[in-house]
Amino acid sequence: MKTILVTGGMGFIGSHVCVSLLEQGLHVIIVDNLCNSNTEVLNRIDQITGKKPLFYPVNLLDEDALSAVFKRHNIDAVIHFAALKAVGESSCIPLSYYYNNITCSLVLFNVMEKYKVFNLVFSSSATVYGEHNPIPYVENYPLSATNPYGRTKVMIEEILQDAARADPRWNISLLRYFNPIGAHPSGLMGEDPNGIPNNLMPFITQVAVGKRDALNVFGGDYPTKDGTGVRDYIHVVDLALGHIKALEKLIASPNNNCVRSNSISAYNLGAGKGYSVLEVVKAFEKASGKKINYVISPRREGDLAEFFADVSKASEELGWKVERSLDDMCEDAWNWQSKNPEGYLS
Ligand code: UD1
Repeated sequence: MKTILVTGGMGFIGSHVCVSLLEQGLHVIIVDNLCNSNTEVLNRIDQITGKKPLFYPVNLLDEDALSAVFKRHNIDAVIHFAALKAVGESSCIPLSYYYNNITCSLVLFNVMEKYKVFNLVFSSSATVYGEHNPIPYVENYPLSATNPYGRTKVMIEEILQDAARADPRWNISLLRYFNPIGAHPSGLMGEDPNGIPNNLMPFITQVAVGKRDALNVFGGDYPTKDGTGVRDYIHVVDLALGHIKALEKLIASPNNNCVRSNSISAYNLGAGKGYSVLEVVKAFEKASGKKINYVISPRREGDLAEFFADVSKASEELGWKVERSLDDMCEDAWNWQSKNPEGYLS
């Protein structure tokens, strides 16, 4: 049985990926410092899969503690989620973002090298396409970013490109997520942000349960179908299955010092089509039977009018594409939020 180490495995995306890994019969070890998550996630994973992953409450900055995990277990691959991810906050405390996201990653990659673990799936973001590329986004576009959070993703991708160029033992998949929403269909796991949600769907679900009065729709005058921002929403379970496909490809074709060209590859994980904010609101109202009050507000700094993915590379090379619709995303997000109005502390 293969053993997969998941950093940040207690978070929204990480927890759904852990469920998929366990359902594939893989052995899962989570390393997470719980700075934005809750140990209740472990019980929920257990309820869904009948299995509890091994959990180490380790900060990746603690190289000795991380090394101890690698020493104790025979790890076949790493999926690296652990990172800070709030765009607005990253502009207020950029040094914290660079220190956390970059240093944690460097510690991890060095420990991996030391223990000869070269299979890596890295959690990247569509934010690496910056603001000047035409849509749909294609993996070979030049990368840039408009905020410190985004720059950490670009930098880590570049660090990994250099590592793979220098040492062909590295076998890396860079997964660029578009807008993951939804929740596990059981209603046992979902998105549980601290404080006021930054992202659209958790804000909508909190309006639906009465925790917030109204959604601020950031901008009603974009050059889009209805004037509101358009994004490529992807169900978190489809996203999790994309990780399984990426991992299968890495593990099936380890680089034995000879396959230079394939040792690092980027994939867009999205649905390949865009929905506007108002379309998401409407779909959510249909799924939940709740009216979502909203106010058209000024644009949010740094937002783009519209972007979505070209998903042909993931389809051709990984044999993966999304299977869940926007209606499924809204139904599952509502199922989670209505059963857990206070998130994991409900
Ligand atoms: C954001 C980040 C992105 C990050 C991703 C995942 C920004 C500029 N981008 O993507 O880098 O990888 O989250 O964490 O923050 N909206 C509202 N009202 C709200 C919230 C959002 O109208 O209260 C709109 C936005 O203007 C946008 C759409 O909903 O058009 C989606 O926003 P959001 O869920 O925050 O995702 P992104 O901004 O696309």
